Amino acid sequence: MGDLKYPDNIYLVGMPGSGKSTLGKQLAEKLNADFYDLDLCIEKEAGKDINRIFSEDGESGFRLLERQCLEDLSRIAEIKVIATGGGTPCFHQNIDYMNAHGVSVFLNVPLEIILERLLDQGTDARPLLRNKSATELLGQLHDHFQLRKSHYMKALIHLDGGAISLETILNGLASL
Ligand code: S3P
Repeated sequence: MGDLKYPDNIYLVGMPGSGKSTLGKQLAEKLNADFYDLDLCIEKEAGKDINRIFSEDGESGFRLLERQCLEDLSRIAEIKVIATGGGTPCFHQNIDYMNAHGVSVFLNVPLEIILERLLDQGTDARPLLRNKSATELLGQLHDHFQLRKSHYMKALIHLDGGAISLETILNGLASL
């Protein structure tokens, strides 16, 4: 592994609760790279949290800001891991942008496992998923996944399962 050359940008994509931030931090540490959470960058840029962006600027305002922050982060000249938002690859052809500027990794976690994690973590900070019963939440996850999967499938590396580990991601990157 020591001789591997990593791309400047490694983008983790997948549904909310698929482990993008958790695994992204581990991956960045392992590669001695920087870690960025796209949602946090968007909040910093907007000067308000995601819920307020959605309520004041609408989803379309959020998606514009998301694209702008994706470009801003991608331009930083260093090796980095970027945890994107669940919807990021599906708007403004962001998945094509990511594939042109680095490597995208799709964390394809079964929705039933995602549901458990979201019920555990809570959905207050996720405007598209908040205030729902478990049944409604699972329905919403299925609906989103149906709409999103063709975009996720364009990621360059696909990792499947409920127990994707740092090692799995490193093996995926090594297979490029
Ligand atoms: C979103 C997911 C969120 C955040 C925003 C929209 C989505 O990120 O970007 O609430 O469209 O699924 P996480 O995937 O980190 O929850």
